[in-house]
Amino acid sequence: MEKKVIYSAVQPSGNLTIGNYVGAVRNWVRLQSEYECFFAIADMHAITVRQEPAELRRRTLELAALYIACGINPEECALYVQSHIPAHAELTWVLNSITYVGEASRMTQFKDKSAKHAENVNMGLMDYPVLMAADILLYQTDCVPVGADQKQHVELSRDLAIRFNNRYGETFKVPEPLIQKGGARICSLQESTKKMSKSDENPNAAVFLSDDRDTIIRKFKRAVTDSDNCIRFAEEKPGISNLLQIYCAFKGCTMPEAEREFEGKGYGDFKLAVGEVVADVLAPVQEKQRQLLADKKQLSEYLSVGAERAFKAARKTLSKVYRKIGFWRE
Ligand code: TYM
Repeated sequence: MEKKVIYSAVQPSGNLTIGNYVGAVRNWVRLQSEYECFFAIADMHAITVRQEPAELRRRTLELAALYIACGINPEECALYVQSHIPAHAELTWVLNSITYVGEASRMTQFKDKSAKHAENVNMGLMDYPVLMAADILLYQTDCVPVGADQKQHVELSRDLAIRFNNRYGETFKVPEPLIQKGGARICSLQESTKKMSKSDENPNAAVFLSDDRDTIIRKFKRAVTDSDNCIRFAEEKPGISNLLQIYCAFKGCTMPEAEREFEGKGYGDFKLAVGEVVADVLAPVQEKQRQLLADKKQLSEYLSVGAERAFKAARKTLSKVYRKIGFWRE
């Protein structure tokens, strides 16, 4: 039986946070042997907000190394850079013609980013979810493992696939979001109801995968909590609940196990334990990433093999799309 297809991506738009790791990359590693996987570095998405060109270039390679350091096997999965496959931009153009301005402007992330980058509300920002739909639909994807913040975008991809199929005949597989229960939304350490983000201005809000041990422990020590000194998961305790989620994700334990472990302990001890477990998990990943970055030739070889695989799969779908919509071909 043919393997089902998984597609996902991360933008090389900043240092990755533990949110990106727990919500996305870590789950890809678990799924990679079961599925046929396409994992991209979404550089085309990244330029919808202003990027420093030299930094974007550097981060692209760093992200490739990080995927592999986290456990993605570049020989099993198609690991590639989005802009290396022109079909992504080409399918976006076709999908633009069946996407309503109304539905694109209702996307929560578009509204949030427009407010945040009020001086640069560009067309790309609005088209971001359509490009994402093109990414997903090109590979006849079954499942899209992402964090909770991307659910709405995957739903738009489904809507567009169904709309296209209804109008032009069966062409795209209709994808499903794959959002795991624990860790799908890691929050800021400074504002416990806000998503932890690569681009937060407060340096203590996010823990980056590149942070050293002392920095990680310091950031957790400063994490905002509450004053009742009881370590349990509860809606009215967003700070502690967020830390507990992080602890479970990194320790590999359940919520009741974590709550039992810290029964009767103080917040200080708890925060230190969270920082330590995160630092312990990240240390070997950082070391592996350093080693991989020392051999740029090998890294770019992985990316070109990945692009070759992606190119073939993407072309097949795009040719079908062009035929269906009536583009003349010999
Ligand atoms: P990006 O780079 O913003 O996020 C990458 C992945 O990390 C997840 N994530 C989180 N998960 C839990 N807690 C958080 N605080 C947190 N912050 C981020 C995101 O949900 C995402 O899974 N647009 C995508 C990139 C993309 C993509 C695609 C994904 C481009 N094309 C096609 C899937 C399919 C994004 O959000 O990147």
